Amino acid sequence: MKTAITEMFGIEHPIIQGGMHYVGFAELASAVSNAGGLGIITGLTQRTPELLAKEIARCHDMTDKPFGVNLTFLPAFTTPPYPEYIAAIREGGIKIVETAGRSPEQYMPALKAGGIKVIHKCTSVRHSLKAEAIGCDAVSVDGFECGGHPGEDDMPNMILLPRAAEELKIPFVASGGMADARSLVAALAMGAAGMNMGTRFMATKEAPIHDNVKQALVAASELDTRLVMRALRNTERVLKNKAVDRLLEIEREKGASLKIADIHDQVAGAYPKVMIDGDMDAGAWSCGMVAGLIKDVPTVKELIDRIMTDAERIIRDRLVGFLDGGQAKPAKVA
Ligand SMILES: Cc1cc2nc3c(=O)[nH]c(=O)nc-3n(C[C@H](O)[C@H](O)[C@H](O)COP(=O)(O)O)c2cc1C
Repeated sequence: MKTAITEMFGIEHPIIQGGMHYVGFAELASAVSNAGGLGIITGLTQRTPELLAKEIARCHDMTDKPFGVNLTFLPAFTTPPYPEYIAAIREGGIKIVETAGRSPEQYMPALKAGGIKVIHKCTSVRHSLKAEAIGCDAVSVDGFECGGHPGEDDMPNMILLPRAAEELKIPFVASGGMADARSLVAALAMGAAGMNMGTRFMATKEAPIHDNVKQALVAASELDTRLVMRALRNTERVLKNKAVDRLLEIEREKGASLKIADIHDQVAGAYPKVMIDGDMDAGAWSCGMVAGLIKDVPTVKELIDRIMTDAERIIRDRLVGFLDGGQAKPAKVA
């Protein structure tokens, strides 16, 4: 399948693995790239630019296919040294960067000088247009369903994607709620040139996270996520657990006066405890509603091959079948 995104990034399939804190290590990024998608290392999971440089080198050892690095600009307890991270990315020969959170405008000259293609993840049409205006090459349009930070507009992909298609000139991928061939074909139908998946890639053999997390995703339904930090305008969609119940209790008590310090125990340092130690109640961690569509833990290659095979079947048998006046087959996916 050829789209503007496969052409832009030199990849075989229009499937991107979004940056994920404490999940997007070289093991997962290289597995996605080796399977023909675009794997992405999460820059800030590496505590220093030197460690990021090492992670990039490790990923180069595991794949000779293109892979990218995610740089997230979100409120943090301490601001990371972004120029040094960008230097590590450039020196590591990375040609694709996924930015997210605040606008990457001030870093665009440094990224572009390194010959880097920038795909900015945004949750609204206006931010997508801004990304286009500041020279981003593509956008990852992230709907309200997504795991992580869905923004404050609460716009689901069924509206957001066709709206993005109406306004944008640069290519975009659909992000948030994407799990299988049905997601990909629907995204393409709405104008996207591919899809970006986060949560679904966590439940794969190569994701270097504790098995408890993968089993929690298989067990979870689409009803099991919660939105936290709304009052801070830093909304995050997370999987419900004991820490999240407590966090929501604190949010109810504090109302509009909530400060980040009030929920420090539920959010700070949670990721290594959950992802590495498998302590499922240690704190709040991002998870999409798409958990309801995750039923197994395949290898990354099995997942991507299945998506591409089923997508072809849905397009040729089901969709074209409607036009031919034949009996369209149901969009059954493996
Ligand atoms: C555990 C987890 C951690 C994430 N961490 C980041 C991050 O550090 N930076 C970022 O830009 N996006 C992050 N995301 C968002 C993903 O890159 C992606 O946009 C999102 O998961 C898409 O929605 P989906 O989960 O429904 O596929 C994270 C998502 C998850 C599930």
